[in-house]
Amino acid sequence: MKILLFGKDGQVGWELQRSLAPLGELVALDFDSKELCGDFTRLDGIAETVRAIAPDVVVNAAAHTAVDKAESEAERVRVINALAPAALARECRKLGAWLVHYSTDYVFDGSGSKPWVETDTAFPLNVYGSTKLEGEVAILASGCNHLIFRTSWVFAARGGNFAKTMLRLARERERLTVIDDQIGAPTGGDLLADVTAHAIRKALRQQSVSGLYHLVAAGETSWYGYARFVLNLAHQMGVRLRVAPESIQPIPASAFPSPAPRPANSRLDTRKLRNTFDLSLPLWQTGVARMLTEILETQS
Ligand SMILES: NC(=O)c1ccc[n+]([C@@H]2O[C@H](COP(=O)([O-])OP(=O)(O)OC[C@H]3O[C@@H](n4cnc5c(N)ncnc54)[C@H](OP(=O)(O)O)[C@@H]3O)[C@@H](O)[C@H]2O)c1
Repeated sequence: MKILLFGKDGQVGWELQRSLAPLGELVALDFDSKELCGDFTRLDGIAETVRAIAPDVVVNAAAHTAVDKAESEAERVRVINALAPAALARECRKLGAWLVHYSTDYVFDGSGSKPWVETDTAFPLNVYGSTKLEGEVAILASGCNHLIFRTSWVFAARGGNFAKTMLRLARERERLTVIDDQIGAPTGGDLLADVTAHAIRKALRQQSVSGLYHLVAAGETSWYGYARFVLNLAHQMGVRLRVAPESIQPIPASAFPSPAPRPANSRLDTRKLRNTFDLSLPLWQTGVARMLTEILETQS
């Protein structure tokens, strides 16, 4: 099997390099790759790359993920998050290749408190969410075989993430306030990559699994609950913090205005994925604890 991976150096892309390697020949690119184009602002270039490699599976981990910055560069974000996946989907359709793509809880408006299912109506609140939704729709419309995984609150040992920011702030500051009225599931890049590899194997044997799936770790929390978990664990591991976990102050999102509004309810129902691929998903705490152990042990 030949797999073409875009966005190899992002949080998920980095883990995919590991999890996809045993499946077959892997060609992995980032936006500045030299011989083959992996730059999503060059639509002809990435289409040409797909034709040149003629893979069985294209995995797209590239995206514009800076949610607040996206508000002020909507056209560029649309090219990367919507038009580029559309171009990949067209090439996959012509080749008969599968396209694996990632999307987001931010396609929803965050109303209610029930976990969203795949058939719920999407209504994004910000540019990032709208462009990711446009990418999903284009892939579906292309008619290519696809696996689209909507996920949330992604973290990884490599790169910046919320947990690392909380650790840094709790070391530097006297006081920490964190939003407690947005609910979701922190999900590890490693989990996303491992599930992707598993799903690809099944998809190549059973074309009928082509579709859209919600893929997040089990359980739920707020950003405040997430921050407390991180600081508690760091404290137990002997990290010196100026802010104790119990002193973090919960605040509503309305007290922390940002350029891009975020959904309050980011819960995603993963039943379809678990049933289709016969998988069980670990609790979010398992992955966060693993990532923290990894980063704190390398710091000490
Ligand atoms: N991060 C989250 O919390 C989150 C939540 C829900 C869904 N997702 C989705 O999960 C997928 C993977 O996200 P991630 O967390 O791994 O994001 P990430 O760490 O930001 O990785 C995205 C990768 O795409 C690259 N990229 C940016 N512009 C590009 C361009 N013009 N051409 C090619 N590559 C470009 C980035 O490079 P630079 O780093 O150099 O910009 C980065 O390597 C994405 O589809 C994202 O929408 C993420």
